[in-house]
Amino acid sequence: MRIGVVGAGVIGALRAQTIRDNPDTQLVAVCDVVPAAAKAAAGPDAMAVTELARFLDQPMDAVFVSSPLHLHDEACLGALERGMHVLCEKPLANTVEAVSYTHLTLPTNREV
Ligand SMILES: NC(=O)c1ccc[n+]([C@@H]2O[C@H](COP(=O)([O-])OP(=O)(O)OC[C@H]3O[C@@H](n4cnc5c(N)ncnc54)[C@H](O)[C@@H]3O)[C@@H](O)[C@H]2O)c1
Repeated sequence: MRIGVVGAGVIGALRAQTIRDNPDTQLVAVCDVVPAAAKAAAGPDAMAVTELARFLDQPMDAVFVSSPLHLHDEACLGALERGMHVLCEKPLANTVEAVSYTHLTLPTNREV
């Protein structure tokens, strides 16, 4: 499975390492606004990017969203719209309105 990680802080770096350590998963890309954080989590084989749009353009089966809470919905929605599965760190969002993207799981057959 090809996986990308958004947000390479405490949690995102752990997620990225777990993906890299698992022979059944491939870390494709890591996105963080801090280039050094993205690069460190990406390791030698994955792409490190600072822009969400470029990150989401990569061919991936699933995206792990580990960015700050107020940015969860943008990353989750972008991944779902591209047909990717999503693992989002809790809580999903600040408001009920911001989690309205979960309705996309029905027509796209993808999961949050
Ligand atoms: N730390 C925990 O114990 C814990 C537990 C449960 C859930 N969470 C959740 O996990 C998420 C991440 O928490 P954390 O502790 O790793 O935070 P963190 O502050 O350590 O990491 C967040 C990362 O996101 C990056 N970032 C900021 N803006 C960005 C953007 N526009 N695009 C991409 N990356 C961006 C930051 O540079 C930073 O590296 C949060 O939503 C938090 O609520 C954390």
